[in-house]
This record gives sequence, C-alpha cells and structure tokens, in this order.
Amino acid sequence: MLRELLIDPKRDPEQEYTIHLFEFCNFRCAFCWQNHEDTIGIDNVLDKLPSIEKLISQEFRTTVTFNIMGGEVFAPQIFNENLCAGYVQLSEEIKKICDRYNKKFSINWVTNLAIERNDLVKYLLAVSREKGIDARLTTSYDPRGRFNPKDLELFKQNVEYWKDELTCFSCLLTKANIDYYLEHGDEYFDYLYKSGFYIYFDYYMPDEHAEHQMPSDKKLLEFFKWCVDNYPNVHPVKDWIFNKKNYASCRTSKLVLADGTICQCGNLTQTPKSLSMYKTPIKRMDNSGIEDAFLNKYNCSSCEFLDRCTLGCFMNRDYKYLEDLDECVFKLTHRYIEDVRVQKGYEAT
Ligand SMILES: C[S@@+](CC[C@H](N)C(=O)[O-])C[C@H]1O[C@@H](n2cnc3c(N)ncnc32)[C@H](O)[C@@H]1O
Ligand code: SF4
Ligand code: SF4
Repeated sequence: MLRELLIDPKRDPEQEYTIHLFEFCNFRCAFCWQNHEDTIGIDNVLDKLPSIEKLISQEFRTTVTFNIMGGEVFAPQIFNENLCAGYVQLSEEIKKICDRYNKKFSINWVTNLAIERNDLVKYLLAVSREKGIDARLTTSYDPRGRFNPKDLELFKQNVEYWKDELTCFSCLLTKANIDYYLEHGDEYFDYLYKSGFYIYFDYYMPDEHAEHQMPSDKKLLEFFKWCVDNYPNVHPVKDWIFNKKNYASCRTSKLVLADGTICQCGNLTQTPKSLSMYKTPIKRMDNSGIEDAFLNKYNCSSCEFLDRCTLGCFMNRDYKYLEDLDECVFKLTHRYIEDVRVQKGYEAT
C-alpha cells in the first residue's frame, strides 16, 4: 500500500534490463560479487534470448534499455571475431523481439574499458547502427579496488579513444573509494568531471565483503556534502540540487543471469554469508520486502523532500550492520543542499 502510494509514482517509465552474459572478467574488483573465473555463458550468448523474450512478452512499459555486460564482455582473453559476431547476432535478435512486441529499445554495452580490440567494438557499434539499433558504451571508474597501474593506463587511453561514445561513468560508493576521495581527492576523477562526462555515483550492494566495503552513513553524508560543494554536477547529487521532482534511483531492473535465470537484484547475493548481511529475507523476483522495510524505517510519507528524493538503493539500506545516523542520510543531505542553495543561488526546476 505504502509502496503504491510513495514509490510507484516515482518509478522511471523506461524499464531497465540487465543482461549478464557471463561472469568471466579480466579484473578482480574488491567489491564485485561475481565469480570471474567462471566461463559459463561465453560460448552461447544467444542462449539468453528465450529469457529476454519471456521478459519482453510480459513487459507493460513501452521503452526498454538493455544493459548488456559480463563479467567483462570485451575482456582481451575472450573477445575475438567469433564473440563479436555473437554480439551482433544477439543485438539483431533483440531487435526482432522488441519489434514483435512493439517496444522501443537501446543497448548499452557495459565495459571496464581495459580492452584491446577497439576495432571489433567499433564494428559492433557501426553494424548495430546500420541495422537501426541504438547502441552505446558505458563504463565504470573507481580510484580504489578496481585497477592495477597497467590496467589504469589502458583504461585512460581507451577513455580518450571512446570519449564521444561513452554515455556514463558509474562510480561506486564503497568505503575505500569515499575515504580516498575525501582524504586525497582524485586527479583523474577531477579530469573526468571537468571534461563534462556523465558521472553517476552508484550505491554499493552488500555481499559477504560488506564489512570492508560498506560506508557508514556519517561518511556517506560527508561525501554527499563534498559533492555538493565541489562536484555538484555528479548524479544523483545534480538531480537533488536542480530538479524539484526525481524518479527513484532504483530502476527495479529485470535481470538475466549467466545461466539464463530471470530475477531482480536480490538474486545477485545468493551465498548464505551474503544473504546473512540483510535484515529482510531477500527474494529472487520480488523486491517488495526491502521496499516496505525502507519506507517504514525512514517514514518517507511525512518527509518534505519526498518529491526530490531518489530514495537510494533498497538493498544497500537493508544492510544488517548499517552504521546509520539519527536521521535519514538523504534527508540530511537535502537539508544541506537547502542551506547551500541560499548561499549559491541554485534554482531548482
Ligand atoms: C558487474 S560490472 C560488469 C561490467 C564491467 N565489467 C564494469 O565493471 O563496468 C557492472 C557494474 O556493477 C558494479 N558493481 C560491482 N560490484 C558491485 C556491488 N557490490 N554493488 C553495486 N555495484 C557493483 C561495477 O562497479 C560496475 O559499474
Ligand atoms: S570489472 Fe566489472 S565485472 Fe569485472 S570484477 Fe570489476 S566490477 Fe566485476
Ligand atoms: S529524504 Fe529520507 S525520509 Fe525523505 S523521502 Fe528521502 S529517503 Fe525518505
């Protein structure tokens, strides 16, 4: 009931699908839940199509964004002409399915950009576009827990190579990243920001490593204030400052996993140790439990910032050992924005 009243009107009308073709990756990021040695799914990327068709056939929204990822879809160890041909075919088949069910769609290939076959990626995007498919690239950046020095160099070169194609840099709100930004600042992040890239700070989804990765709300608040003061154009901070109304940041993504399983984000944390990190029982295809827990905890129905608020990640907020503050961390951030708004003359529209 509360969810229907408070969250449903804030849901993004574009539905997001996250397709994990496989978990194999050339990286071993400290915060990532996947098994990066696992090769399941690499040789048969088209096997995801029945799950995709099942989801599309039941989809009531008219527009779908497909975030297609691994692991790492362009990992040098596996990405060759054959795999690229598989991606082209997958894109074509997705188009046929979407055409059949009258859906508009786009494809984001999500990559860590520590990649070597830019020629093949270029081909994939060009062929997709020739066939009328809106295909783009999205990447991720973290100053801690992601790169070794060699991979960071390769990533930076590829950022320059792909700068006109990259639609988003996703940066994770882990404890190590936040500490690094606050204590040292980050020159390369500053460069990305000043270059005008779309930067999105994403919430960390706790898994068995949460003890080392999950920031306290005190740190999170400090970080959001730092963004308001120094980097007001990063998302979702920019949306909080400049929009009177925002969609919820949780896009209730529908997922297809490496083995074809259809689920919601809760299914990503399946080991008993990971599941034990949550207060609410986490369900495979139903986020209602964690959404209700969130609304009850924060009493959003009586909050003056409900329209503007993006509400955060329900999984992140359900972390059993969350070190929270007396008040909602987002509410405290919105209050800070109100104070700064007066000083800096920011207008919300
Ligand atoms: C699993 S990766 C796959 C795509 C590609 N390898 C990359 O890193 O961009 C997709 C996104 O999930 C993020 N991610 C990894 N572990 C996460 C976690 N525990 N909570 C939230 N996001 C996470 C990554 O930072 C990345 O932006
Ligand atoms: S590059 Fe992506 S898939 Fe690979 S370990 Fe890092 S977050 Fe996970
Ligand atoms: S600021 Fe906190 S209490 Fe207010 S709507 Fe957002 S999450 Fe709910």
